[in-house]
Amino acid sequence: NSLHPIPHPAKKPFVGNLLSIGSDSPVLDMWKIAQDLGGIYWLDMPGMPVIVVSSPALVDELCEEERFDKSTRGALRRLRAASHGLFTSDTHEETWSKPHNILLANFSQRAMQAYHPMMLDIAGQLVTKWERLNFDEEVDVVRDMTALTLDTIGLCGFGYRFNSFYREGFHPFVDAMVRTLETVQNRRGLPLEELMLKKELAQQRKDIRYMHKMVEDIIEERRASGADIATKPDLLSYMIAGVDKKSGEKLTDKMIRDECIEFLIAGHETTSGLLSFAIYFLLNNPDAMAKAQAEVDNVFGPDTTQKPTYAQVNRLQYVMQVLKESLRLYPTAPAISMRAKEETKIGGQYTIKKNNMVIMHALALHRDKGIWGEDADQFNPDHFSREAERERPVNAFKPFGNGQRACIGRQFALQEAVLTLGMILQRFNLVDHTGYKLKIKEALTIKPENFRIKALLRDPAT
Ligand code: HEM
Repeated sequence: NSLHPIPHPAKKPFVGNLLSIGSDSPVLDMWKIAQDLGGIYWLDMPGMPVIVVSSPALVDELCEEERFDKSTRGALRRLRAASHGLFTSDTHEETWSKPHNILLANFSQRAMQAYHPMMLDIAGQLVTKWERLNFDEEVDVVRDMTALTLDTIGLCGFGYRFNSFYREGFHPFVDAMVRTLETVQNRRGLPLEELMLKKELAQQRKDIRYMHKMVEDIIEERRASGADIATKPDLLSYMIAGVDKKSGEKLTDKMIRDECIEFLIAGHETTSGLLSFAIYFLLNNPDAMAKAQAEVDNVFGPDTTQKPTYAQVNRLQYVMQVLKESLRLYPTAPAISMRAKEETKIGGQYTIKKNNMVIMHALALHRDKGIWGEDADQFNPDHFSREAERERPVNAFKPFGNGQRACIGRQFALQEAVLTLGMILQRFNLVDHTGYKLKIKEALTIKPENFRIKALLRDPAT
């Protein structure tokens, strides 16, 4: 067939490779196949072949933006019913270029300083909750990290407090968003799906109306309040005031609404997964835990009543290495979809047609022994020492996607994660009281499932 000579696993009549890829673990299943077949293979999926790429040399070619672009086919396109913004748009759409041009500066390293007090506010709520736990109570790590990341984007994004640390469950907005994401992911473009998911789709329409109305009310309230960038330096203020230099136009209220929803969708699970994996790895690597805690003690000092400054957070070099190493082993957005702009050949021999779906599998890429060494499967934050980072090829580490379509929130996520992990290590000794064995839950993103720990207050004298 036309995909020859790209390797592929055996197919079954009618269903092709549909059964090779489990619906609840597609990314891990694709990784397993990569271990057998190598850095490129294709799968026969309903409606289209899918080419999975993870060898460093071929990924290098996918990263050439003149030849390849992000693809929104599948889940991202279905998500547009809820929000059609940066994350779900094609690169040629103004729903991508306008907010991208306006917002880029608000996500730069420098801009993070303005968000620092708000990030501190929410991280403070998390550690206060943990400080008040009794000796016989445990922490549901993913739950609390999700509370943290949602509340942080709510506050830094549009001045809204989801107050997740003051409720049993989550704010109704979050329930609506999570249900919408689940329904979007459960659809596979199969015949009769609309009928089979009739109830879920009706619920989805209701959820989307609710989310739209809530964010529209927030925007209206902000306009009426007369607040601006000077008085409220959050993303909403920047979006209301910002002018796209290319078109000379501002964002419409609909664009602003969709951006607010997309920050929550794109930013909350990925960052909470990152923090959860980092805690998992530290608990399983006592030397790295001791080193990270020593660094925090040195930079923050023992006085937990003193809030860490922005400059102090930026001095936590080893904590940052721990986070990057976690993102290497388990990138929480583990695979992204791409497409060729024109038919092209990669590796000198593999033809990629314009309509082929190409998956860049970051998790498999990040385990390449030729790049990372024999200990590629081991947690070792030294993989991100300054020297190692300088020497490594640029496209070896891809947890945030590629080029102009890379994650706009990456500095934001890392700033928030370093601050939070720093404040946790300053106050607590973490204990793996269940002897947790890692189990991964996939839902567009990956995170540890049912991961519970104990957080014991450190003796201030030690
Ligand atoms: C895009 C990963 C945190 C907002 C992306 C992409 C990846 C990614 C891989 C590219 C997606 C694609 O090509 O389809 C991550 C990871 C994060 C994180 C691993 C945390 C550890 C955040 C945060 C925000 C955010 C905190 C918002 C505050 C976005 C947006 C896009 C995006 C808006 C679309 C950008 C564009 O297409 O121009 N992210 N992200 N992300 N992310 Fe993140």
